[in-house]
Amino acid sequence: MVQHSIDWQAIEKQYYVQCFGRAPITIVKGEGTKVWDDTGREYLDFVAGIAVNALGHSNPQIADAIATQARTLVQTSSLYYTTPQLEVAQQLIDNSDMDRIFFTNSGGESTETAVKAARKHGKTSLDDAFEVITTDRSFHGRTLAMTAATGTPAYQDPFRPMPEGFRQVSFNDIDAMSDAISSKTCAIMIEPVQAEGGIYPATLDYLQQLRKLCDQNNLLLIFDEVQTGIGRLGHFLGYQHFGVQPDIIALAKGLGGGVPIGATLFKEHASTLQPGDHGNTFGGNPLACAAAKVVVETILQPGFLQSVSKKSDLLIDGLEKLKQTGQIVDVRGLGLLVGFELSSPDLADKVVNSCRDDGLILVKVSASTIRMVPPLTVEASEIEAAIGIVSSALH
Ligand SMILES: Cc1ncc(COP(=O)(O)O)c(C=O)c1O
Repeated sequence: MVQHSIDWQAIEKQYYVQCFGRAPITIVKGEGTKVWDDTGREYLDFVAGIAVNALGHSNPQIADAIATQARTLVQTSSLYYTTPQLEVAQQLIDNSDMDRIFFTNSGGESTETAVKAARKHGKTSLDDAFEVITTDRSFHGRTLAMTAATGTPAYQDPFRPMPEGFRQVSFNDIDAMSDAISSKTCAIMIEPVQAEGGIYPATLDYLQQLRKLCDQNNLLLIFDEVQTGIGRLGHFLGYQHFGVQPDIIALAKGLGGGVPIGATLFKEHASTLQPGDHGNTFGGNPLACAAAKVVVETILQPGFLQSVSKKSDLLIDGLEKLKQTGQIVDVRGLGLLVGFELSSPDLADKVVNSCRDDGLILVKVSASTIRMVPPLTVEASEIEAAIGIVSSALH
């Protein structure tokens, strides 16, 4: 590969909206868990498109499926029936406890769809109730409504006033949730593991109590599984780890293995959207669904999800051992959605930079927590190598 023949970082500075803090590398190629920059440097990628590349980079089956589909049919809109869409719809519904699906193009669109369905439930069954209760530190997307749903004031402040109809309470606190429910409430939306907020799993008891609260008050329980779904927790969908069934599930990220696609899944009673209520142009297009079909089929192959759980143990054990350095103060997560908290925010930046210099890409999720979300196909030896690099950064 050519040594920096073009200064892409300068081009980004000049042309791109300056709303991202990017790491100073230009990635040009990926294969499995590895990526390469434009100088030819190789990195282990434990960011994986932010928990997206479920089957690794440049997966040959996904590449073949996309290429074949691109030569056959790319887009028709939802005005017509298309087969890749309906095949993936069947796969997702038949392997979950849900009854209906709507395809989207991103996580934010999936959660927004969930909230619209919940508001319709409020309108038709709860005397116009419209409020959705979410939690502090949650993340549900960047559309204006999902910014209002997200429990991080810093994301809301530049855009106030926020759309009404959302309020936040503290996470894993059932009394706070119970106190917040009023005649205005139509739904509760929760991440089974808070991801962007710092990798905080919900307790089983909390989720069970939420289910009860929703049942008692005729509210819909929405699980935002944009990050926890599609094998990430060692189960096909994250709720299956806890055994608590939501009424609506929002998915995206891993579903297309890197190709943009999301979905919102509904129990029949929560499937409130009627003709004219909702729609999109690209949702569930044949190209994205061809990729999603490969992802879902692969994840459901015998042994795949068990291997995710085994690799999770290896990763979590390795990080736990690094607590001996005194610099890691907590290790949190489930499956291959794992975070380690450092003793100070300065240290977190230092560790991310030092790991990158040593060939491992990581990203922070909060001031002092670094997340590890490798492809689900990561190899045990790659996890060991990554732990070794983190260890060197701490010594
Ligand atoms: C739990 C959760 N919900 C929603 C979103 C938004 O997804 P997208 O960026 O695809 O809109 C994210 C993205 O990180 C997420 O983690």
